[in-house]
Amino acid sequence: MKTANNQPSKRDSFASSFGVLVALAGSAVGLGNLWRFPYLVGQNGGAAFILIYLGFVILAGLPVMLAEFIIGRRSHASARKAFQKLAPGTRWGIAGVLGVICCVFILSFYSVVGGWGLEYLYKAVCFDFTTGDDQALKTMFSGFSTSVWRPLLCHTIFLGLTAGIVIAGVQNGIEKFSKVMMPLLFLIVIGIAVRSMTLPGSGPGMDYLFMPDWSKVTSETFLAALGQSFFSLSLGSCMVITYASYVKKEANIISLCAQTAAADTVFALIAGCAIMPAVFAFGISPGEGPDLVFITLPHIFSQMPMGGVIAILFFLALILAALTSSISILEVIVAFCIEEFKMKRKVAVAVVFLLILVLGALCSLSIGPLDGWTILGRNIFDLFDFLSANFLMLICGLLFVIFVGWKLGRKAVFDELSNGGTLHIPAWLLKTAIFLIRFAAPAALIAIAVFQVKE
Ligand code: PHE
Repeated sequence: MKTANNQPSKRDSFASSFGVLVALAGSAVGLGNLWRFPYLVGQNGGAAFILIYLGFVILAGLPVMLAEFIIGRRSHASARKAFQKLAPGTRWGIAGVLGVICCVFILSFYSVVGGWGLEYLYKAVCFDFTTGDDQALKTMFSGFSTSVWRPLLCHTIFLGLTAGIVIAGVQNGIEKFSKVMMPLLFLIVIGIAVRSMTLPGSGPGMDYLFMPDWSKVTSETFLAALGQSFFSLSLGSCMVITYASYVKKEANIISLCAQTAAADTVFALIAGCAIMPAVFAFGISPGEGPDLVFITLPHIFSQMPMGGVIAILFFLALILAALTSSISILEVIVAFCIEEFKMKRKVAVAVVFLLILVLGALCSLSIGPLDGWTILGRNIFDLFDFLSANFLMLICGLLFVIFVGWKLGRKAVFDELSNGGTLHIPAWLLKTAIFLIRFAAPAALIAIAVFQVKE
């Protein structure tokens, strides 16, 4: 039996284009927007970082996304199998395997931070953020995150929720969940942004976000911005390859990728508007680092009118955003296990759940009792974050654009982007997309790599 898009019926697929869009945007919008983006903006000089970030989204992010989409939809397979189908007898499959390894690293620390979100939602519901005393809030967070059992319990619950949705499959789990949660998420964060921007004294926060100060920009800013654009758009991790493998042939690739990148960027900016004006209104330093969301924000919530309710909404949004992303990361690994080892979906989810449970536990403990265990000067949590966002994702992204731009070649890219000439896409747009894939993205990625090695 075959489905409408001529795929064997046992391979799951998305039901509609809107479903694909919300699932892709759901994967993109996540802790990267609500947790990583604001603290990187804070540490790297505000608007200048945002402009460099936007440049990378267009020059490197979009072309890599197009390339991944082409690989997934053309092969109807995920990760390694996709490359094997498109370039049989070559070693390109290794690029796919690297992407899956990257997802293992990401999901391990992602699930720990998702677990922190659950704990903080619980604290918000119990109205625990009543003190404006920074020291007390710091002690609250470090006491919790460095302890043994509670963060592990939260990590397990978060991973369990993720696994529960992925077990239900692509159409019934991922697509349905994202369709309901994504609009809700946007509404909540827009509401918080309006509250934050109307606080007295919020003006400097808006200036910080939108008036560039180039003096804070260093070579590290560029790597941070590039890494963040990949992390936030879920690139170089085989996520887009995997989701695109469930997409029907008639989908318009350019339009889906552009809408996903736009939704993710707009969401990051709204998250910035929800956080920075309040940070400035209460005279707090924006460069707090990764703890911004868990220490600085509760401080602000404790002093803000209606702060108790806003705190609940914020941590609810954080968890929803994290879940629509964590399901996509888990799906990459699960799809790989199903295809490579012929596992049933349930078995694959169970096996990957156990693997990430253990690796995530190591990440969690590396902040507390195991913080003496360092590799390359980093604890396990930071190592996984660094290896994925600043290393593996970028290498995989480079391999993916080279594969599509040079191995599959111009004609195949043209065919995929225009669906064999049936979509009426202006010639300049096609040419620009092909130029970005073949030249701009590889050049940007290689330049940053050379720059880093030289430093
Ligand atoms: N883009 C997600 C976020 O911003 C993280 C992610 C990375 C998801 C890689 C899937 C794959 O939180």
